[in-house]
Amino acid sequence: MAKPSSKNGGAHENVSAAAALTVTIGVNGKRQTLTIAPWTTLLDALRDRLDLTGTKKGCDHGQCGACTVLLDGRRVVSCLTLAVMKDGAEVTTIEGLASNGTLHPLQQAFIDHDAFQCGYCTSGQICSAAGLIREGKAASADEIRELMSGNICRCGAYPNIVAAIEQAMAAMGRGS
Ligand code: FES
Ligand code: FES
Repeated sequence: MAKPSSKNGGAHENVSAAAALTVTIGVNGKRQTLTIAPWTTLLDALRDRLDLTGTKKGCDHGQCGACTVLLDGRRVVSCLTLAVMKDGAEVTTIEGLASNGTLHPLQQAFIDHDAFQCGYCTSGQICSAAGLIREGKAASADEIRELMSGNICRCGAYPNIVAAIEQAMAAMGRGS
């Protein structure tokens, strides 16, 4: 079913008080309560309501991976996730990966390997790779490529991205 269109992607659409729903989610360790239209995606809630614009909107159809975030530790495309269905969930975005001023090993590895050009896909790549490492299913560069295939990089930085993920895996004791 097509979503109603709006200038800003849906989070601030006119919705009657009766139709609006309240949802409470944890975002990067902080509880957030939002009153939103039922059709608001997690992506629009993060970007338009919480100003967490590190998560990018690429295709808005679940096909590019730019909007990937971690939901209860698992990677999801936030453009296909309705926020109201995730009441009580914990969301981690690219803004929440660093800890006490120290970059996440994946963030550092992407810098070390120059694993981006325009950077538009990068937050999704890093969040997806964090989910991949947590899943523990990638044991080789080929498996990293296969399991990261949902994240498109239009700049073609794939060799550097795989090298960065391998470095982070080794740093986190999950070496491929
Ligand atoms: S913006 Fe969500 S998959 Fe492309
Ligand atoms: S760095 Fe440009 S799309 Fe990936």
